Formats: sequence, structure tokens, C-alpha cells
Amino acid sequence: MRSGGLSIRVPGDKSITQRALILGAMADGESRIAGALRGADPLATGRALAALGVEIDGLDAGEDQVVRIAGCGLRSWRSPSGTLDLENSGTGVRLLAGALAAQPLTAVLAGDESLSRRPMGRITGPLRRMGASIRYLERPGVLPFQIVGGGLNGIRHEGRVASAQVKSAILFAGVGGGVGVEVREPRRSRDHSERMLEGMGVEVVEGAAAEGWLVRVPEPPPRLSPLQMQVPGDFSSAAFFLAWAALVGCGDLLQLEAVGVNPTRTGLLPALARMGADVRVLGRRSEGGEAVGDLVVGGDGSALHAVTVGEDEIPGMVDEVPILAVLAARAEGVSRISGAGELRVKESDRLAALATNLRRIGVAVEEFDDGLEVEGTDAPLTGVVESFHDHRIAMAFGILGATPGCNIRIDDPGTTDVSFPGFWDLLGRVRTWWESMGHGTWRPGPGKRQPRSVAQDARASAVAGSAGCTVVAIDGSAGSGKSTTAAAVAGQLGYRHLDSGALYRAVTLGLLDADLAMAVETVTPADLEALDIAIEWRDAAMAVRMRGVRVPEEALRAARVTSEVSAVSALAPVREHLLELQRAAADGPGLVAEGRDMGTVVFPDAAVKIYLDAHPRERARRRIRQRGGSAGAAEIEEEARRLKDRDERDSSRSLAPLARAGDAVLLDTTHMDPRAQMEAVIRLVRSVEPSP
Ligand code: S3P
Repeated sequence: MRSGGLSIRVPGDKSITQRALILGAMADGESRIAGALRGADPLATGRALAALGVEIDGLDAGEDQVVRIAGCGLRSWRSPSGTLDLENSGTGVRLLAGALAAQPLTAVLAGDESLSRRPMGRITGPLRRMGASIRYLERPGVLPFQIVGGGLNGIRHEGRVASAQVKSAILFAGVGGGVGVEVREPRRSRDHSERMLEGMGVEVVEGAAAEGWLVRVPEPPPRLSPLQMQVPGDFSSAAFFLAWAALVGCGDLLQLEAVGVNPTRTGLLPALARMGADVRVLGRRSEGGEAVGDLVVGGDGSALHAVTVGEDEIPGMVDEVPILAVLAARAEGVSRISGAGELRVKESDRLAALATNLRRIGVAVEEFDDGLEVEGTDAPLTGVVESFHDHRIAMAFGILGATPGCNIRIDDPGTTDVSFPGFWDLLGRVRTWWESMGHGTWRPGPGKRQPRSVAQDARASAVAGSAGCTVVAIDGSAGSGKSTTAAAVAGQLGYRHLDSGALYRAVTLGLLDADLAMAVETVTPADLEALDIAIEWRDAAMAVRMRGVRVPEEALRAARVTSEVSAVSALAPVREHLLELQRAAADGPGLVAEGRDMGTVVFPDAAVKIYLDAHPRERARRRIRQRGGSAGAAEIEEEARRLKDRDERDSSRSLAPLARAGDAVLLDTTHMDPRAQMEAVIRLVRSVEPSP
């Protein structure tokens, strides 16, 4: 890589992780999986397997921890006591159904709203023909359904669509049930299951057939050897950053390390090459039966050309069509994607979602039954994009939004967790790196406006607005890690730490003691004045003083204060009263200000604005741990519900609602430990510090 370059890693492959969990659970003995994806999809599959009696260790830890699966043999899972909820995961539910068909037990499979719309007949048809008994519980052809497995016979299946999920479900049922199976698909789909089964001692025969591709497991062995493998980075996740590199033209300065380049997955590469963005695969190697390499995008960012892709190419890039369509929006000419009807039954109807959103931001699109025509433009693209609860729609537009000349907001950024926890954080990092090298200025056509980049704006306000005190504003939802991160960052940088929550708690306590909290709406500025709230700085740490006396931490955290603070902090006189006090904290070399309106109201000119968020379940887990309680599934659900209610209340209040400032960097901390959170914030601060 050239000097000044950046090397990044994307999370583990979703398809391979899902298969490793299920096949590991069918093996004889302990499987060890390194680099497994901790996205919401595999976590849901892990929970379903645990409910089936399979012990899985390490899946709730960071991606650097090995996942151990105590495989209990081909047919010894136990009937679960409740419904198996696969949430958003099509791969999880379909592959698990295949494995369950061979198990002599009864299970009910269900999913979220999006998964409950997706077609299941494509797997239940062949599994029924193998002898599994399947009953749809609400509507034919969609989740939920009950499956009673065991006593299978072999089949030959002629698939109408190229689908690795269908193929894998049948292979897993055949291997689990000890019966031979054969699947013909019209075009070759991804072959991770075949490779992993071979590694576990199963003979898999495959090759081109008269029409399409044939895969056969003639005689499954009585047991599967456990897996020992390293999961490569997900090509489908890497594709977003390849596209970003192609759009901004950062040549071979951005390198994506250790990405899976299995040829049944990399169909996007030839299409990118035709658009003028050649991707080079460096250091090609093989890991655990899969090809792996480091990827760099060639080219100097000169205009991309329109591209045409047809049905033969779609199976090899089925998950990359959203990002391809987004690239087409910035290419010269009209791009045409056809033969992609399968996209209508993914996490959303992706063809409709792409057409709607592209039009919304100003791109001309025509939508067909099986594809799209997209007319490229170099006009500014702005607007709010609806993710339709689909991670790849959110990420595709997130990438476009992170390029000069675009101002795009995604309605539901958290949806990216399904396959790419930390996506926004990584995108923020990459973008900050690129802009810190003086890039990121839009090169528009004649007469077009020149938008400034976020980092340029941040740098300008860091230098101009704060009289030498660098303000870092950290806002975010309850339990997202604000306090811990803010304290750690302040400690590292030698900045003051403003805990604005402590001020609101002190006011609440003072009003409660004065018997005023019950009639909060009548509180006057004079009542607040009488409390005489002040901040006492001891080096960089703050304590709150009230009526001349230091308020102990325990008093601020008392349950009666906790239950009233939300109502008190929604009052206009209270917010007004504390505003100047908070602003006065910006003194000395720097201030880390933490709260809910730091970047929007109190310090709108902060040098760095960060908005922390995490999955409600993870936030609930942290809250319960903080209180020293035990985090069982029921407690977590209950607490998550409480947190969601509170978020809703805080975001909908008319005064200083909890909201991400338009120029704040979103940091999703779901899969980050406190140290990683601190490091991410410090990187952002460093990137805007004016050079000496
Ligand atoms: C997958 C197969 C593809 C793909 C999905 C993952 C898999 O679905 O879209 O994201 O892991 O087998 P289909 O098999 O339905 O095409």
C-alpha cells in the first residue's frame, strides 16, 4: 500500500458464520470458529441453537474471541420449550429448518415482520418431500411454521431459482438424516456449505449440468468432524467500502484486509472493472477451504461508466445489487440491471426500495419486474432515505451519503447491525482519514454548489469558535456508553468532563427537597436561582454544589431522583437555567461534554460531535450489569422495553429533544468494549485538531 494509506477490516462473513454455527452444532465434538460475525443475524441463530440444547460459548464476546460449539451429533438436539425466533435472518431460518427436518423433535420457527413476509415454500416443499412434517401456523407459505422432523428419505430437487439457502437446507437435511440428496439449480449459487461439508468429511459431488449446476451428496457419513476455522471478512460488507473508494477515487490508498474472495461471491468485481474501477486482489491465500485476499481499488477516481448486468451475473452478486445501483447513480450514462427478480424477496423488496430512495434524492430511475435502469448524475443528491428495515439498503445509501456532493440521512441507521456491526463507525473513520488528507471537496459540474465536508466544518469551528478550548460533544441514548466513554476520553486527553446529567439530577433533588417537584410545571426561575447550583472543578473532574454544599454522588443517584429527573429536565426554565453554567465549563485546553443536547443546543459549534447508540438489548444488558443485577433473557427484554419507551419520550419532547446533530458522527457501540469506544472518539478528536 502507498504511504499515507489506510488499512481496514470488515466483520466476518455472515453466510459462513451462519453455516459454521449450524454445522458445528451437528458435528461430533467441539468446533472452534475464529473471526465469526457478531451481527444480529448469527446472534439470533446462536440463540435458537442454544434453545435446542447446543452449548455455544464466546458468541456474545468480541470478534477477536473464538466461538466454541459443543456439537452433540447429527440427531440429538432437544425440542425447544418456546418458539425459535430467527428475527431478520433468512439464512438462519432456512438453513436451520433444513437441519431440523432431520431431528426427531418438534419446533416452531418464527421471525420479525420482514422475515415473516419472505417465501418459505421454496424450502418447505423439498423438506416435506423428504418426509418432514411442516404446518404453517398463520398463512400458507410464510412464517411461523411448525416442523416435526426425523425419518427422512433422499430426494432429487430441481430448483427454479439459484438459491444457496434452498440448496443448503436440502444438503443439511440430507446429511442430518443420513440420506442421499441431489440439487440442481439454474445457475450456480454460493458454495460455502459444500466446502464446509467436505471439510467435515462429507463427499460432495458437483459440476455443470445440462441446464445449470448440480450438487450431490450421495452417501452422507454417520458423523461429522468438528470444524476448526477462521472466518474471512465478508465480501458483501467489503463491497460497500470498495464502492466508496471507487466513488471518491482514493486509488490504492484504501486496503481491505483478509476478505473472502470465493469466486461464487465476487461477481461485483467484473462489473466494477467495466465501470472503470478495477479491484486488485493482493496476497491471495486459502484459509479453511476459502480463498482470501486483501483488496484495493485501482483508478484515480475519474468518472465511472454506466454498466449493464444480466441474469447470468446476478447469483454471484445477489447481495451487491443495492450498492451497484448506488454506484450507477454516479456513473456516466444509463446503467441497466436485469434478471434480478429475486431481489424482491430479500429483507425488503430491494428493487422497489432502491427505486423509491434513488428518486427521493434526485436520481432518475426506471423500475422493471426484474430490474432497474439508473441514470447517472453529478448533481447534488440530498434527502432522507428509508431503509425499509434492510441493512443493505441503509449501507448502500450511507456510502453514497459519505461522498462529496451528497447530504443524505438514513431513517434507521441501526438496521446495519444485521450483518455489519460498527459500519457507521468504520465509515466515519475512513471518511475522516480521507478528508484529513485534504480531500473530500466536491468536484461539481459547471454552476454547481460546492458543499463543505463535515471535517472541514469541524476544523473551522475548532479553530474559530472556542477560544482555544476544544469541545467534544457526546450525546446519545441511555446505556449507549456515554458516561464511561466521556470520562475515559477526558482522562486520556487531560480535558474537563462535563456530566450534564448530574446537573439535572441536582436540580431534581433540590426541587424534591423543597417539595416543588410534584408541581414541576409551576417552577419559576427564582425557585431555580434559590438552589444556587454550581460546578466545582477538581482538576478535570466535576462535582455539583447546591446552596454552597457539595452534593454526594449517592444523593444524585437516589431512586426518587431517577424517577423524576426525566420530567424535570423537560422543563424550559430548567434547561434555560443550566445553559450558561454548562457553556462556562468550556475552559482550559478542552472539554468533553456529555448529555442529550450537547451537540445540538449547548455546544452547536463543538469541534467534534459524536452520537452514541447501541442495540436496545445491549443497552439493557449494560444497565442491568451497572446496577449489579443478573441479566437473564426476560430481564433484558423488560429493561430494553423501558429504554425504548424512554428514548421515545426523550426524542419526542418539544424542548431539546434527544437527537443526533446533523454533523455528528454516529458511533454504534453495540459490539464495542469501553476501550474501543474511547479509542474511536480519540481518533476523531485527533483528526480535527488543528495541525501545530
Ligand atoms: C445466502 C444466500 C443468498 C443471499 C443471502 C445469504 C446464504 O440468498 O442473498 O444474503 O448465506 O446462503 P438466496 O439463497 O435466497 O439467494
